[in-house]
Amino acid sequence: MKIVSQIKQPIEQEMELFEKKFYQSMSTHVALLNRITHYVVNRKGKQMRPMFVFLIAKMCNHGQVNERTYRGASVLELIHTATLVHDDVVDDSNRRRGFFSINALWKNKIAVLVGDYLLSKGLLLSIDHDDFDLLKIISVAVREMSEGELLQIEKARRLDITEEVYFDIIRQKTATLIASCCAMGAQSVHAPEAQVATLRKFGELIGMAFQIKDDLFDYGEDTIGKPIGIDIKEKKMTLPLIHALNVGTKEEHDWLINSVKNHNRDKKRRDAVIAKVKALGGLDYAIGQMKDYQRQALELLREYPPSPYKEALELMVNYVIDRKK
Ligand code: IPE
Ligand code: IPE
Ligand code: MG
Ligand code: MG
Repeated sequence: MKIVSQIKQPIEQEMELFEKKFYQSMSTHVALLNRITHYVVNRKGKQMRPMFVFLIAKMCNHGQVNERTYRGASVLELIHTATLVHDDVVDDSNRRRGFFSINALWKNKIAVLVGDYLLSKGLLLSIDHDDFDLLKIISVAVREMSEGELLQIEKARRLDITEEVYFDIIRQKTATLIASCCAMGAQSVHAPEAQVATLRKFGELIGMAFQIKDDLFDYGEDTIGKPIGIDIKEKKMTLPLIHALNVGTKEEHDWLINSVKNHNRDKKRRDAVIAKVKALGGLDYAIGQMKDYQRQALELLREYPPSPYKEALELMVNYVIDRKK
């Protein structure tokens, strides 16, 4: 059986119902918006965030979820979708999930407004049901993601990012949302506070590994449904490059910085940068860091008794590292 179906097996019914509720949660009377949300739903992603919510909720609560769990999963996927729609505007990227991005099809103006709409629908879903404890978990993630994206832009302008700042950025822009998914799953079934905190940490560790993996894709030859090499083009320095800068000679360091700064629009030069980063061990280093986060995440799960949900979560941690898209 494929690994994804194996992970989904203990939450199959929940995911099926989730998809219906998720689509309903976007409903609108505005015809244009309706066409776009329809497009979004038909090009669904991996749905890892709702999967985390349901697996954690079931692990914490003897296999039982409730309506709060469904709403929490919908809110988080809505917010995730909103940030991707905005992210493609910010990154000027025309592909997403193997097809055109919203900005590529409908232009930036509309993509900005659609992102805002999805975000507000998400927040209202919690507010309308008085899920204020869940709303708190979500709002933290929204703030962190905006801060992380802005910090990344600041660093791309100045090209002075350090490894420490890189980890701050990915913690904020990606790991916090996955941490929120895990905290959400636990909180939705009223798990004890300490357990919510541990599972939040678990999500954060996976989130870190997840974004390092995403950044590695930018150096790869695989087709993953989004463009390759655009990080360098956008002057976004990620872990492999940061490591290369740290271990290279002064000449190599200056050549890399000069390439990113002044030749980032030149495809040949970008390929040369990628080759240099590889030669300096940048990819191996990033893979090592990613595996370290993976190991820490798995360690946190050890205190839970065996269950199909725990097993699926372990598979999911490994999937984050091994995935091809
Ligand atoms: C993409 O997330 C954005 C990042 C945080 C790297 P996913 O890779 O989970 O996106 P979809 O939902 O599966 O398309
Ligand atoms: C991830 O950032 C998007 C957010 C977490 C907001 P990236 O720009 O690195 O993600 P992709 O590669 O476009 O999915
Ligand atoms: Mg981005
Ligand atoms: Mg992007």
